[in-house]
Amino acid sequence: MMKITKAIFPVAGLGTRFLPATKANPKEMLPIVDKPLIQYAVEEAVHAGITELIFVTNSSKRAIEDHFDSNFELEATLQERGKKELLDIVKGILPEGVSCAYIRQKSPQGLGHAVLCAKQLVMNEPFAVLLADDLIDGGPQSCLAQMVACFKDLQTSIVAVEQIHPSETGKYGIVDTGASTDQMARLSGIIEKPHPEQAPSNLGVVGRYILTPRIFSQLENTKRGSNGEIQLTDAIAKLLQEEPVYAYRFQGKRYDCGSKLGYLEATVAYALKHPELAGDFKRSLESLVA
Ligand code: UTP
Repeated sequence: MMKITKAIFPVAGLGTRFLPATKANPKEMLPIVDKPLIQYAVEEAVHAGITELIFVTNSSKRAIEDHFDSNFELEATLQERGKKELLDIVKGILPEGVSCAYIRQKSPQGLGHAVLCAKQLVMNEPFAVLLADDLIDGGPQSCLAQMVACFKDLQTSIVAVEQIHPSETGKYGIVDTGASTDQMARLSGIIEKPHPEQAPSNLGVVGRYILTPRIFSQLENTKRGSNGEIQLTDAIAKLLQEEPVYAYRFQGKRYDCGSKLGYLEATVAYALKHPELAGDFKRSLESLVA
């Protein structure tokens, strides 16, 4: 019986859609209300039972390492000033028993390449991949926790999918699950960014995966695909010829925070349920749109 304890966070993309904000700041450090995107993803992973966090970074993503490290000066000052609540928030960013490892992707050669960079740290175990720019509000059970629960029974690779608008297939990996409309369906194919007329379905892959270590040998043999990058989708397409891979329609709402519109939607939605801000923010919003 295999257990998922490791998660890869590929954070080495350029974030060009958010320039100039992402010129010197990592996209994953953009806040939704008061927490950076990457922290939401880490909290989701920890909630799902992950204890080893593996970040695939590059030279301009140091802020992420600093965020999950302790900041002695800040903590000492908060302590001195009696700011207990803030101190707890700062200290709680990385829960006890959870460790971080960082590995560099030397150049942005695609998501598949970024995942492959973590091979030595993952070793021969199934693992999760979370893309922090897909922010998922899963409700009582986070999206990854739902997937980990499914993995307990299936013991094989699972990709999270959702129904997307038919005109948007060119932005996603699109799965083929035949005629199945089940919440969990076995893949017969997967294709990266197809034109709408070539898309096998309207089910797009979102940034949550559970993968078996066999994906690494597939990635090692994957040639550059869409955008000239090594695509994780192409390696999954080969993996499913060797072992079952499932598509899981998760419960919850996803915000595409890699795009400006999705980011703004997430900000509004999270502010509207923020314990301290909700009331005032709702009134400001109403007066803005009136
Ligand atoms: P995106 O397609 O969102 O690319 O990558 P991006 O570079 O981050 O953003 P844009 O499109 O230029 O605005 C999906 C995920 O894969 C990671 C990104 O950090 C993001 O989490 N990624 C992508 C890498 O880690 N390395 C890569 O070479 C490419």
